[in-house]
Amino acid sequence: MSTIPNISTDSLIRTRNKITTRSLLLKKQRGEPISMLTAYDYPTSMIMDKLGIDSILVGDSLGMVVLGYENTLPVTMEEMLHHCKAVARGSQFALLIGDMPFMSYQVSVQEAVRNAGRFLQEGSMDAVKLEGGRERTETIKAIVGSGIPVMGHIGLTPQSVHQLGGFLAQGKTASAAKRLYEDAIVLQDAGCFSLVLESVPERLAGFISKRLEIPTIGIGAGASCDGQVLVTHDLLGYFDRFTPRFVKKYADLSTIVGEAIAGFISEVNNREFPTTEHSIDMPDEEWDILIDEIEK
Ligand code: KIV
Repeated sequence: MSTIPNISTDSLIRTRNKITTRSLLLKKQRGEPISMLTAYDYPTSMIMDKLGIDSILVGDSLGMVVLGYENTLPVTMEEMLHHCKAVARGSQFALLIGDMPFMSYQVSVQEAVRNAGRFLQEGSMDAVKLEGGRERTETIKAIVGSGIPVMGHIGLTPQSVHQLGGFLAQGKTASAAKRLYEDAIVLQDAGCFSLVLESVPERLAGFISKRLEIPTIGIGAGASCDGQVLVTHDLLGYFDRFTPRFVKKYADLSTIVGEAIAGFISEVNNREFPTTEHSIDMPDEEWDILIDEIEK
């Protein structure tokens, strides 16, 4: 039986305030879990926002699950901003985070600040996320210094897939775990308001979460993080090419969409759609005038 509550969205909307980076910090301090999901379009953002999601990430996972790229590396600033704008139109309350794409923050600190600014000015995001550990210190300080909240992302960082040798779990040896722990502290000190921990052992994620003041958001990092995020197309079962082991599928959307599309094709081929129910009528007197005019 489903444990998902039947919520009246109207009542939720009346009692809610806009979620900010400070709201996430307060949630951590109160021991309340933080929910975050990815979205790339207006209708999905609208559903999530109405249902009370804390944060929506316009992730560069966009490249794989929506645009069909092999990995996230080809995603551009323009593609990210295009989808950020759509998501922002659908959301009133959630904290909106734009994921900085590969090469938008690595080349120079100046370019990173400029691109981070575009997420707020053009994409209507509230904050940005970027991948990497201690090597990002100066970049994060500069972006935060210009008034833009930054979420860090360590562990499995998909933009470094070639360096990591694949989409592999990270921090499984004592030395790798120590390095990740140190990176987490450095990113907090650089000014990050929160950190994504991806594909790291649960006990390491729990240890880091306890030691940090800022909230951790886990993906494949177990239950001890301060919040959880998933790629929405994975949890909906709408991206079949590759599903990480840590994903829980809450629906089988590929099958549902496939059945609907097959139904349409079959009904069109058999002339069963459209019926009069889906057609537009015209008053008889207007029709008669038309025929008279044409045939006289
Ligand atoms: O791009 C993305 O969707 C992400 C999440 C997996 C955290 O970075």
